[in-house]
Amino acid sequence: MMKLHTPLASALLVGLLATSFSAQAEGDWKKGRIYYRMVCTACHAAQGLEAIAPIGKTKAEWTAYLTADKHAKGKETVKYFVSKKYRESVKDTNKAAAKYLNDSDADLMEDVRAFIIRSAKDGEVPASCS
Ligand code: HEC
Repeated sequence: MMKLHTPLASALLVGLLATSFSAQAEGDWKKGRIYYRMVCTACHAAQGLEAIAPIGKTKAEWTAYLTADKHAKGKETVKYFVSKKYRESVKDTNKAAAKYLNDSDADLMEDVRAFIIRSAKDGEVPASCS
């Protein structure tokens, strides 16, 4: 009996694991887009900077930027602006920070990353108006 059941059970297990891994690795780009527009872009616009849009860099350039994690030449990390600590500090005036206040830092960073990569110059759906 075990011999009949085991391959099926392992196939199912592998399938389940693959599904949950890919769901996790992808991030929720829709949520990432809201956060990027309402937190990242809102501040860039308020500071009178040129638009910093995902389309301004390739996927590889964004990956390098996000991996280096040095925002404004290392003044702070990119992660800091996604962190709960930062969300907490602006939640009264920023609806996205309030809405996603309780997300884990790592999950929200994956969501933002998913949006940026999807919208990069060579991404699936390049986005300039963000
Ligand atoms: C509180 C304001 C503020 C927030 C929030 C903010 N930025 Fe910035 N960002 C800036 C400023 C100011 C600069 C310009 C720094 C310079 O020119 O030295 C900048 C520059 C950048 C640059 C150009 C390269 C660099 O690092 O100088 C990128 C890319 C960037 N921001 C991405 C992001 C992303 C992604 C987020 C959201 C997760 C974000 N920023 C959130 C203020 C902000």
